[in-house]
Amino acid sequence: MEGFKKKIQHLAANYREEVISIRRHMHQHPELSNEEYETADFLASKLKAYGISYRTGVFKTGITALIKGRKPDRKVVALRADMDALPIQEQNEVEYKSMNKGRMHACGHDVHTASLLGTARILQELKDDFEGSVKLIFQPAEEKIPGGAKFMIEEGVLKNPEVKSIIGQHVFPEIEVGKAGFKTGMYMASTDEINLTIKGRGGHAAMPDLLVDPVLVASQIVVALQQIVSRHANYNIPTVLSFGQFLADGTYNVIPDEVRIKGTFRTFDEEWRARAHDHIARISQSIAKASGAVCEVFINKGYPFLVNDDIITENAVRSAEQYLGKENVIELKPRMTAEDFAYFSQDIPGCFYRLGTGNKEKGITSNLHTPTFDVDEKSLEIGMGLMAWITFNELRY
Ligand code: NI
Repeated sequence: MEGFKKKIQHLAANYREEVISIRRHMHQHPELSNEEYETADFLASKLKAYGISYRTGVFKTGITALIKGRKPDRKVVALRADMDALPIQEQNEVEYKSMNKGRMHACGHDVHTASLLGTARILQELKDDFEGSVKLIFQPAEEKIPGGAKFMIEEGVLKNPEVKSIIGQHVFPEIEVGKAGFKTGMYMASTDEINLTIKGRGGHAAMPDLLVDPVLVASQIVVALQQIVSRHANYNIPTVLSFGQFLADGTYNVIPDEVRIKGTFRTFDEEWRARAHDHIARISQSIAKASGAVCEVFINKGYPFLVNDDIITENAVRSAEQYLGKENVIELKPRMTAEDFAYFSQDIPGCFYRLGTGNKEKGITSNLHTPTFDVDEKSLEIGMGLMAWITFNELRY
């Protein structure tokens, strides 16, 4: 076992430069969700060069690949990386700065993909040393509901051969490079987009008695909906309801006909999630009705919540402790952010963990989805090796 870990560490060190250059290439050429065509071509060229058999066009720009060890049917473990970028203008002044205006890999998906290519190369090199197979999933459109994971599953990525478990990693600037974070059970929230349109009767603001004021009705609705979290949500189930858009396009002396509201609902329980949607609709519509207005409710269901399988995650923690040292493995807290890896984790047992990419000393501290986000590139060597080691152990269980 020790010997095998050393082999992985050695290969990760050998492939470091190549993987960093892959990451930088991707970072310079970011593409938005569902537009990852050049990215997909680039990935395919790498898989081809490594002699790994792959399939393109799985849900448009997605790619799957298969590495067969000895007794390839014994167990199949999937590894997933997402590959889309965000509509952000990069502000880092680095040699690998984004060349695509208004597009940036500000969520580290370039790191996930480059690291997975490194892991793939390591496992391909060592394929005679393990039993079972490894399925690589390069997934498009993680950043945009409904997400690419759902469609890749519908296209059968978890079948033929049947995948037993799945592992994914995500960069995490809040923890220092050299460390990794894990969490069993519920880890990331489900997410839904709430759209409300309150229709009243607008007119001269000096004559409200003749109008049905949708601004007032919408305000009452926003306040009342806060009670869903404080009065209806069970205190054991973390829940968030936030509104970020409230559009009432009148002016000093004009009350508009309608108000549009957008918000997000997040939680960790499918049954409660469905009930909360009903509450949102009922409360909004009842308040509108009581005031003589109408409220149209449209809830765009997003990702389910992400649950990490206890056994696979505990095994991954053990592997990480062996690979990084016990002191470098951190227990994470649940988060209200969302991830479409959740679709995989709802379908088969999975583990989604966080790779430390921050470095306070070097000033690498910016958060995900910001124009100054970056990673300590040492994390690439660690990321590819750690995932190879976790996979090797997961295949044995
Ligand atoms: Ni992300």
